[in-house]
Amino acid sequence: MASESQNWVFMVTAQTPTNIAVIKYWGKRDETLILPVNDSISLTLDPSHLCTTTTVAVSSAFHQDRMWLNAKEISLSGGRFQSCLREIRARACDVEDENKGIKITKEDWAKLHLHIASYNNFPTAAGLASSAAGFACLAYALGKLMDVKEDESQLSAIARQGSGSACRSLFGGFVKWIMGKEDNGSDSLAVQLADEKHWDDLVIVIAVVSSRQKETSSTSGMCESVETSLLLQHRAKEIVPKRILQMEEAIKNRDFASFSQLTCADSNQFHAVCLDTSPPIFYMNDTSHRIISIAEKWNRSEEAPQVAYTFDAGPNAVLIARNRKAATSLIQRLLYYFPPNSDDLSSYIIGDKSIAKDAGINGIQDVEALPPPPEIKDNIPPQKYKGDVSYFICTRPGRGPVLLSDSSQALLNGETGLPK
Ligand code: DP6
Repeated sequence: MASESQNWVFMVTAQTPTNIAVIKYWGKRDETLILPVNDSISLTLDPSHLCTTTTVAVSSAFHQDRMWLNAKEISLSGGRFQSCLREIRARACDVEDENKGIKITKEDWAKLHLHIASYNNFPTAAGLASSAAGFACLAYALGKLMDVKEDESQLSAIARQGSGSACRSLFGGFVKWIMGKEDNGSDSLAVQLADEKHWDDLVIVIAVVSSRQKETSSTSGMCESVETSLLLQHRAKEIVPKRILQMEEAIKNRDFASFSQLTCADSNQFHAVCLDTSPPIFYMNDTSHRIISIAEKWNRSEEAPQVAYTFDAGPNAVLIARNRKAATSLIQRLLYYFPPNSDDLSSYIIGDKSIAKDAGINGIQDVEALPPPPEIKDNIPPQKYKGDVSYFICTRPGRGPVLLSDSSQALLNGETGLPK
């Protein structure tokens, strides 16, 4: 390791998106390697609205591997972090920074310590796949720091060992996680089905649902489902393989009717598996169920489906509208049923605010003036559920990981290697 100064810090910053599964991953055949019982397909969300930024730094002055998440130091001792660090270090190459006079050889990486700082641009506690973006960003940033030659798919197999769904965040657009057959997991990796421009009519609205309940983690929930649910076995063997083919076809042809039907059916089946688990797991709550009814009623009243819904291991709804026009109608419906608790609309609809503007919603008075959706045939106006949704995030299909070369975006100080 050659360096003119002893106090050098070499670092890289990357940004990685979250993803939402439209064909769900639920169940592992290997807990340590994180190998799933079925293939899954996801849509990557625009990182401008939901992403993780991670800075990874190396220096001979560091005494141990350390990590900070949202500015708070966290332990790296867990098996999942250790697997990712080990797998990346094993693939490290010679790295030279001529400007700084740094030369790190392949062999040096095993002895050098790392500092890692990660930041989510959305609330970590909101249940919005923060571990997916987080582990994907860790694998991607470390891969760049150590000049790992592996491509995104091979990096995805490393991110997978941090959190299964993370492997799908190595690409933009539509992504398939191939379950693989090998015992060592070498063929369990993500591939891109279509990039984010392929179907950019889609608009995504996430309803962050208020919840007081502490949910079962995905990791332990799926483990219990594998042990006790017969429906999971049937789903993995008989249902998902066919659904994956149909979903790939729907995506290829931008066939929203089919996409929507498959997405909703798969979300509902995943939650049915949770209910079939002993003891049963409830991730959705009354608000989630209400959102499903609103979407179903609306879709049935139109000639063709306008919106798809999907729910992960929590009550938040991810709604995918067929296009901008459908998204404005969706926002009007959602705001009609779930008006905000306060008059502050700017913190109630976040992300791409132009959808609400297009829907004619500029202030609280516009929400109050919304008429009941036309599909409500009764003369009695439907009940409203003020405060049951914490906020909405409007977004779109997004790109995969990128390096941030502007040093002002780094989360670690370039001199000390400590959080800024
Ligand atoms: C319901 O990837 O969080 O979101 O692999 O144990 O870390 P681990 O689980 P995780 O599970 C995600 C489950 C899901 C469906 C999906 O994203 O496919």
